[in-house]
Amino acid sequence: MEVMRSAAARAAAGADVVHLEVGQPGTRAPSGVITAAHRALDDDVLGYTVALGDDTLRHSIAGHYRDWYDVSVDADRIVVTQGSSGAFVLTFLAAFAPGSRVAIPAPGYAAYRNMLVALDIEPVIIEVGAGAEYVLTPDHLASAGHLDGAIIASPNNPTGTMLDEDQLMDLASWCDHNGVTLVSDEIYHGITFGNRAHTAIDLPGQPIVVNSFSKYFSMTGWRLGWVILPADLLTPVERLAQNLTIAPPTLAQIAARAAFDCHDELRRNVALYEEHRSQLLSALTDLGFLQLAPADGAFYVWSDVSHLTDDSQVLCRTWLDELGVATTPGLDFDPNHGHRFIRFSYAGTTRDITEAIDRIATWLDVQR
Ligand SMILES: Cc1ncc(COP(=O)(O)O)c(C=O)c1O
Repeated sequence: MEVMRSAAARAAAGADVVHLEVGQPGTRAPSGVITAAHRALDDDVLGYTVALGDDTLRHSIAGHYRDWYDVSVDADRIVVTQGSSGAFVLTFLAAFAPGSRVAIPAPGYAAYRNMLVALDIEPVIIEVGAGAEYVLTPDHLASAGHLDGAIIASPNNPTGTMLDEDQLMDLASWCDHNGVTLVSDEIYHGITFGNRAHTAIDLPGQPIVVNSFSKYFSMTGWRLGWVILPADLLTPVERLAQNLTIAPPTLAQIAARAAFDCHDELRRNVALYEEHRSQLLSALTDLGFLQLAPADGAFYVWSDVSHLTDDSQVLCRTWLDELGVATTPGLDFDPNHGHRFIRFSYAGTTRDITEAIDRIATWLDVQR
């Protein structure tokens, strides 16, 4: 966010900044969603919905599990939230007591750690970097001491790496046998470039599944997500939601019902990400960035930059100041090793990617 702020400030001052720092689609919501929103603005009172979310939307989300994953999910177990961020806060509050220990992978999404700390829950950082081929295994969890919970994300932010079906099953079974609540962050599902992502919803132990309209559905600022909960957490989450937020945004909920009919348009976004991804991966490799995490999904490339710097924050700052190329330093994603890494996002425009590659190539030439 700090990098985004600096990049935006430089752009506002007239600099030509290209954006490889963004963690959100550069595309609008699909047209069916926008039409539904216009209609709701004209026709609907737009009062509160119930705290668990609009019933029609909850059924549409259940339908999505049937269509995409061939899994039957009871709509009653689905809670609509303010982005997946809202889902995490509600879930952590309901599922974990203060002082609980919850495993999170590093590199991983920084907000898990920050939310857990804010709620007096101990984040147990599990190193799942290049040495572990970016794959969290039951052995990692077993060696972490007592755990109450574990969070996984596949595809992962910042690495883009994915867990295959067997790896997911192994983790879910281990958590089930060891009384550990598994939370599966599936926010990047739909943005994958080889195998499709598997949901944890039908795996042993009733994992908690979190998802969002922010990435594949291209509705980031509409602030809508969902969580699928085991039955015993529904009432606690409903009460928390009633008190913390009353309800998710009504306009976004009504519009989002249409999102599940917009796959043709959304698939075109994914096709564009795929083009950007191959362009960026091949250019980075040509430029000597040889240690890249497998970018199976999401819209990120996680690159070791230790051949250029021992402080990626300084490198990102230099690139922003000297080249107008915004990238994200790795420290937030990995407190121990992130100083050697940068996250490149290819969610922006084709020009962002092409220009960034040209400018970095020229900069590297001058350094040599
Ligand atoms: C892995 C991951 N989970 C959750 C989120 C939160 O997204 P939102 O609250 O918009 O659903 C993000 C945002 O970038 C993310 O990368």
